[in-house]
Amino acid sequence: MNHPMPSLPYAAEALAPHMSKETIDFHYGKHLQTYVDNLNKLIPGTPYEKMSLEQIIRKADGPVFNNAAQTWNHTFFFQTLTPQPTAVPEKLAELLTRDFGSVDAFKEAFTKAALGLFGSGWVWLVSDKQHKLSIVSTPNAGNPLTQGLKPILVIDVWEHAYYIDYRNRRAAFIEAFWNLVDWEKVAERCVMKRYECTACDYIYDPETGSPETGIAPGTPFEEIPDDWTCPICGLYKDAFRPME
Ligand SMILES: [Fe+2]
Repeated sequence: MNHPMPSLPYAAEALAPHMSKETIDFHYGKHLQTYVDNLNKLIPGTPYEKMSLEQIIRKADGPVFNNAAQTWNHTFFFQTLTPQPTAVPEKLAELLTRDFGSVDAFKEAFTKAALGLFGSGWVWLVSDKQHKLSIVSTPNAGNPLTQGLKPILVIDVWEHAYYIDYRNRRAAFIEAFWNLVDWEKVAERCVMKRYECTACDYIYDPETGSPETGIAPGTPFEEIPDDWTCPICGLYKDAFRPME
């Protein structure tokens, strides 16, 4: 499978002055393009040829892992930025407050981790199997999927991410990053959505689960087994739609 270059959800100049067009031209247009090209050159004729990016990241090592993970990580990074950030959605603020004390305390801890990572790498907000949020740092091309963690937000702290705009001042880059985070997208990745049965209007609320059909409170809809059926009308999961 040929892995495509991901598209940007904004114009190259849209993130200025926090992130210049020149930075996007090099970081997205050259660095990321090179990782994508290298990956596509490395995998033909190997067991990785037919795998998804996530499968490669979980199984490969060496250059295949490095180029696959750098492709995934950069895609995730660029797609979490926006020229028009909104406030942190209430549900996300509640989760950050639950696990870090407050939204500001989370941002402070994340900033500290991003400043403290020695050399090149990535700092992540992740969710574990119990849906608890935490901050992890991965050196070089590291990706938390390899530790069974779900990425929620990431900052690239390789020098190539900030050298054009901020030279050696990583702290200034991190400060600018906070002006570009797409909190709606971050929330989508960790706030559990309610789902509605399109046949009978039954609503699955992950907060309460569906104990009468064996689904414990706190279970996201996505983690319910595929053979589960609507407690009211008996239709399968594919009859459900996410609610806004
Ligand atoms: Fe990068």
